[in-house]
Amino acid sequence: MLLKLYIVLIFLTTLSLHSRVQAIGVNWGTSASHPLPPSKVVELLKANKISKVKLFDADPTVLESLSGSGIDVTVGIPNSMLKSLNASKKAAESWVHNNLTRYLSDGGGGVKIEYIAVGDEPFLQSYGQQFQPFIVGAVTNIQVALIGAKLANNVKVVVPCNSDAYLSESGLPSKGHFRSEINKTMIELLTFLNKHHSPFFVNIYPFLTLRQNKNISLVFSLFEPTAHSLNDTHKTYKNSFDLSYDTLVTSLSQLGFPEMEIVVGQIGWPTDGAVNASSSIAQTFMKGLVTHLESKMGTPLRPKKPPTETYIFSLLDEDQRSITTGNFERHWGVFTFDGQAKYHFNLGQGSRNLVNAQNVEYLLSRWCVVNNNKDLTDATSKALEACSVADCTALSPGSSCFNISWPGNVSYAFNSYYQQHDQSADSCDFGGLGLITTVDPSVGNCRYIVEIQTSDSVSLNRTPLFWWRLLMPLDLH
Ligand SMILES: *[C@@H]1O[C@H](CO)[C@@H](O)[C@H](O)[C@H]1NC(C)=O
Ligand SMILES: *[C@@H]1O[C@H](CO)[C@@H](O)[C@H](O)[C@H]1NC(C)=O
Ligand SMILES: *[C@@H]1O[C@H](CO)[C@@H](O)[C@H](O)[C@H]1NC(C)=O
Ligand SMILES: *[C@@H]1O[C@H](CO)[C@@H](O)[C@H](O)[C@H]1NC(C)=O
Ligand SMILES: *[C@@H]1O[C@H](CO)[C@@H](O)[C@H](O)[C@H]1NC(C)=O
Ligand SMILES: *[C@@H]1O[C@H](CO)[C@@H](O)[C@H](O)[C@H]1NC(C)=O
Ligand SMILES: *[C@@H]1O[C@H](CO)[C@@H](O)[C@H](O)[C@H]1NC(C)=O
Ligand SMILES: *[C@@H]1O[C@H](CO)[C@@H](O)[C@H](O)[C@H]1NC(C)=O
Repeated sequence: MLLKLYIVLIFLTTLSLHSRVQAIGVNWGTSASHPLPPSKVVELLKANKISKVKLFDADPTVLESLSGSGIDVTVGIPNSMLKSLNASKKAAESWVHNNLTRYLSDGGGGVKIEYIAVGDEPFLQSYGQQFQPFIVGAVTNIQVALIGAKLANNVKVVVPCNSDAYLSESGLPSKGHFRSEINKTMIELLTFLNKHHSPFFVNIYPFLTLRQNKNISLVFSLFEPTAHSLNDTHKTYKNSFDLSYDTLVTSLSQLGFPEMEIVVGQIGWPTDGAVNASSSIAQTFMKGLVTHLESKMGTPLRPKKPPTETYIFSLLDEDQRSITTGNFERHWGVFTFDGQAKYHFNLGQGSRNLVNAQNVEYLLSRWCVVNNNKDLTDATSKALEACSVADCTALSPGSSCFNISWPGNVSYAFNSYYQQHDQSADSCDFGGLGLITTVDPSVGNCRYIVEIQTSDSVSLNRTPLFWWRLLMPLDLH
């Protein structure tokens, strides 16, 4: 009896210790040509004691890999589904049935689904009014479906919003308000969230603010104590995060929801593809952020009430993300595409270094480069062609491979294309200018990658002899 009590006590103590660090999670996106296999990603999460993960869809292989892991999960519904979910209660019911119910009751403990993110930044200014008319109807129908499935007590419905949903013309948080064209829908959404005790999910990007706002300095964005503070009446702002967060707090108050709970759904710093995007700057930002969150000091408008949860954006680099906002979009990962830590901070694992993904299976150690013995007149145009498909973001100004001179940059483009095509021999042709090599062309910080084996590419590599014969003649140039 006493022993039992003791065990319960230990259990409760670990639980409360755990819940203090539990507040940090990660976003796990899968817009990659060769995604790290879900089982490896879950091992990576566990090895680093990451206890919360936010997804952008409800991919069955991803959800199955999370089953029994004990990790809290946010599943996502893409914006493209909002229209049908608004129009039809049946569509919402079948979404819940197909993408939620079966994972919750799955064998091995099931998936601990905590939130459904309905839409992904549907209020984003660049989307115009595309999704806005469907948001409230879609969340309402999903909520009704959850109640019908008796899941409404376990799973909350949320709508991730980019920080461009609100603004302050003067830059002062006390003058914050939502964009006027979303005001009406936002009131309906906040009323819904409030009624169901769901938090407001906001995505805050000090890196983007730095790029857009001349008044903001790099040190202010990085939580550096040396930054000039900004005074707003009697409040003093020491970092860009608090500034944006409190602009949201004022915006919520202005619509009548001063106490609305806030979760930071995405926050991060890219490591490549732009000026001020590097691993060392990202590390400074993350360490500053985590120290700020762990201090529990909150913000000037919500002292001692930090966001209840914060999801780092992002876990891994994704080479298929849209680059309309910039080349940095494919470099948000704390880890590279293949699960290697780019820098270190406390994601849940404490003061030791982050643990890398283990036993990652790669394609063969082969790269495609430009053949210097050929006439290279067309090399640049061939490289540009390759770049229209491949990932050349590391070649842009300020990026890790910007320095490598011509024709090294051509080789970079050729190799990216070749790897994305599973190293098939014909993807290293380029009008006869391509050459397959076993010598890693990487220089300094500029990494010429070898892609991960995916289920599609495995079969190719099960026949090394065939490959060897194919590659030999090219190799011996
Ligand atoms: C949303 O769904 C409702 C109910 O079916 C419908 O009346 C309304 O027209 C829909 N909204 C839009 C913008 O299609
Ligand atoms: C989820 O459910 C809907 C509706 O049943 C379905 O169309 C969709 O493919 C499912 N899967 C994902 C990953 O969303
Ligand atoms: C930038 O700073 C100036 C001077 O302090 C101020 O007048 C202006 O409103 C600020 N603009 C923004 C967008 O913060
Ligand atoms: C938004 O709605 C609130 C509450 O009705 C109102 O006070 C505010 O002036 C509105 N803002 C805009 C920009 O329309
Ligand atoms: C990069 O950081 C420097 C140093 O603070 C700053 O002057 C510059 O404006 C930043 N540039 C961009 C594009 O963010
Ligand atoms: C802001 O206020 C603090 C203390 O109230 C003061 O020390 C600081 O100089 C002020 N900063 C600016 C930029 O006015
Ligand atoms: C790249 O160029 C920058 C200056 O533009 C220089 O500081 C740096 O050392 C160069 N790196 C390499 C690897 O050549
Ligand atoms: C490679 O560098 C050359 C010379 O700087 C430039 O003209 C060309 O556009 C670059 N190619 C790529 C793919 O970046």
